[in-house]
Amino acid sequence: MKRLDHTLCIAPMMDWTDRHCRAFHRTLTRHALLYTEMLTADAVIHGDRRRLLGFSGIEQPVALQLGGSDPRRIAEAAGIGAGFGYDEINLNIGCPSDRVQAGRFGACLMREPELVARLWAAAQTAAPNIEVTIKSRIGVDDQDTRSSLFALVDLAAREGCRTFVVHARKAWLSGLSPKENRDVPPLDYELVRTLKRERPQLRIILNGGLRDIDHGLAEGAGLDGVMLGRAAYQNPAMLLDADPRVFGASAPSQSRVHAVEQYMPYIEAALSQGAPLHAMTRHILGLFNAQPGGRAWRRTLSEQAVRAGAGVDIVRRALAHVADDAQAAA
Ligand SMILES: Cc1cc2nc3c(=O)[nH]c(=O)nc-3n(C[C@H](O)[C@H](O)[C@H](O)COP(=O)(O)O)c2cc1C
Repeated sequence: MKRLDHTLCIAPMMDWTDRHCRAFHRTLTRHALLYTEMLTADAVIHGDRRRLLGFSGIEQPVALQLGGSDPRRIAEAAGIGAGFGYDEINLNIGCPSDRVQAGRFGACLMREPELVARLWAAAQTAAPNIEVTIKSRIGVDDQDTRSSLFALVDLAAREGCRTFVVHARKAWLSGLSPKENRDVPPLDYELVRTLKRERPQLRIILNGGLRDIDHGLAEGAGLDGVMLGRAAYQNPAMLLDADPRVFGASAPSQSRVHAVEQYMPYIEAALSQGAPLHAMTRHILGLFNAQPGGRAWRRTLSEQAVRAGAGVDIVRRALAHVADDAQAAA
């Protein structure tokens, strides 16, 4: 069975880490492990699979994240995902939205660790050649975090699960919006490190509030990897350091401008298949944050890429506002 390198992962983020975003991230890092947005098992089973699950080989390695609470349906969706060529299936045990709670999955499954273990086993049996991993919180509501996290991990590990991504804060299922649930409950990195110390045979990945690669490497020392979410999406240039710093490999782009140039053929191909320009450019708005011309870059793209028929020349127009920092990076 294939197990991937989780040293640096980019978090699954609904409406953000779509296939265009992942293709862009690949101009910045070849080695970070990318995750899809969460798809429900029912969407995978009943939806337009090509649209929902289709991805480009350049995105790999890429993990498909699934949400659901019925082992049979999770198994079916995992099998379909494996058939599409995904490199890992990840189960979402952390999302707190009302929609997800109504379906009794996501973070509320922190209260049902036996069911999580069954979901994991069903998915792994249906997708035997790739690893099925779990992304969880440390607890929900008034749960004791140590016992809820350890119960979840131990029951799934007893079935054979080896890799756990832990968003190191509770979710509060009533009273907080999903957005507040990513900021308000306090982070507890130490509990995640304790989990690794006490379960050294398991692979434990830390997520939540990591500001950049340095911060991730510092807080994730002794763990099996870190997962960056919002920071990497909003300031993607930090990923230019990922391959040299984390994987000892050369970066796929020497500069921000070079990354855009490498994204350009992908943009053109997606346009020719009918995708609107802003579907690709919305993921690169933050690339020149805090750089000279960065505001004009963002403004040009956000105002002009949404116009009907907008083409790749808009990206060139936006590039005219910024300087190539390749020399500085070299
Ligand atoms: C816009 C957005 C959408 C998200 N969608 C998902 C999702 O589909 N599945 C999931 O497990 N987590 C989702 N998350 C949570 C992230 O994966 C991550 O756990 C969280 O943002 C904490 O990491 P960070 O502080 O590095 O962003 C989402 C977060 C954001 C900001």
